[in-house]
Amino acid sequence: MQITITKTTAPKEKPASDILGFGQYFTDHMFMMDYSAEQGWHNARIVPFGPLAIHPACTALHYGSEIFEGLKAYRRADGVVQMFRPMENIRRMNNSAERLCLPTIPEEEALEVLTAFVQFEQDWTPSAPGTSLYLRPFMFGSDETLGVHAVHNAQFIIIASPVGSYYKEGINPVRIMIEDEDVRAVRGGTGEAKCGGNYAASNRAGQRAEEKGYSQVLWLDGVERKYIEEVGAMNVMFKIAGRIVTPKLSGSILPGITRKSCIEVLRQQGYTVEERLLSIDELSQAMADGTLEEAWGCGTAAVISPIGELCYKGVKYPVNNGEIGAVTQYLYDTLTGIQWGRVEDTFGWTHPLESK
Ligand code: PLP
Ligand code: COI
Repeated sequence: MQITITKTTAPKEKPASDILGFGQYFTDHMFMMDYSAEQGWHNARIVPFGPLAIHPACTALHYGSEIFEGLKAYRRADGVVQMFRPMENIRRMNNSAERLCLPTIPEEEALEVLTAFVQFEQDWTPSAPGTSLYLRPFMFGSDETLGVHAVHNAQFIIIASPVGSYYKEGINPVRIMIEDEDVRAVRGGTGEAKCGGNYAASNRAGQRAEEKGYSQVLWLDGVERKYIEEVGAMNVMFKIAGRIVTPKLSGSILPGITRKSCIEVLRQQGYTVEERLLSIDELSQAMADGTLEEAWGCGTAAVISPIGELCYKGVKYPVNNGEIGAVTQYLYDTLTGIQWGRVEDTFGWTHPLESK
């Protein structure tokens, strides 16, 4: 695929690694590509990072035709920058596109443009421990009409942001509130798609939890409000009486790539991982009788995030005395080890880029 390049005339100074936080700074360029029903995907270009001109009737602004992905590029100790399982994100993006009636992108072409863009911006990948270049591909419907229907025009854009840790707690355990009022998704809805609307609808519960000192909410299923689903921006796993349990992919939770990687790492180590329905009653019982040994969230932005306290209907349950557990630590060390090139990648998950 032909990509035209327009370089910025005003390169920015790169932020110091200790002030990065999450998603606050952006690189000098972005990738863009347009879709029309007549022409398919065309006009692939790398251009200076900056505002978009959008028609006020743009489909995405009115009817939420928007999907996104999140993955990271990591700088290894030898200086090489590598992405982690990018094809998984591309496949998930196409599944989201299919659900939202947005156009899909042929997998190899999507990987080609993503790789080309990251290669172009790779100098922005920070090297301090725990930092990375967060990549945010997204797509939205750009029809200039108010009719409600599958889109005929779309834009695909990739922006990149040097990041540190997602939670201010870093690897320290976070406090999570189990939400029993709002729901995030139902089967047959858009829960397993990564679309902006899912996050907009979850903000109210998230804000309420934050006001009470919790980092995020843990969602229950949208029909019976009985089964554990996932946390706001990550999947969730538990160690209950020695067994690893994680909610199965029922259609209403996001099929996380970190979740999938954790399961593969754990199974390779001989752990039994149960992907199944886990009711709030079973979890409450395990919290009350002390058999809940560990709980953690997993996601690209959040990495592996130990959960130190769960709160359900106003009752607080400390998990593992508010400390990181052995399995959580092992997963953190193994995944981040592979991502930053400290641990041999026997799975073939990393995608190193050519140095500039
Ligand atoms: N669940 C939700 C709602 C998310 O936003 C994310 C983050 O992307 C995840 C789970 C974890 O997915 P992944 O591991 O692919 O980043
Ligand atoms: C990610 O982990 O990449 C996500 O997309 C989470 C995000 C909503 C902050």
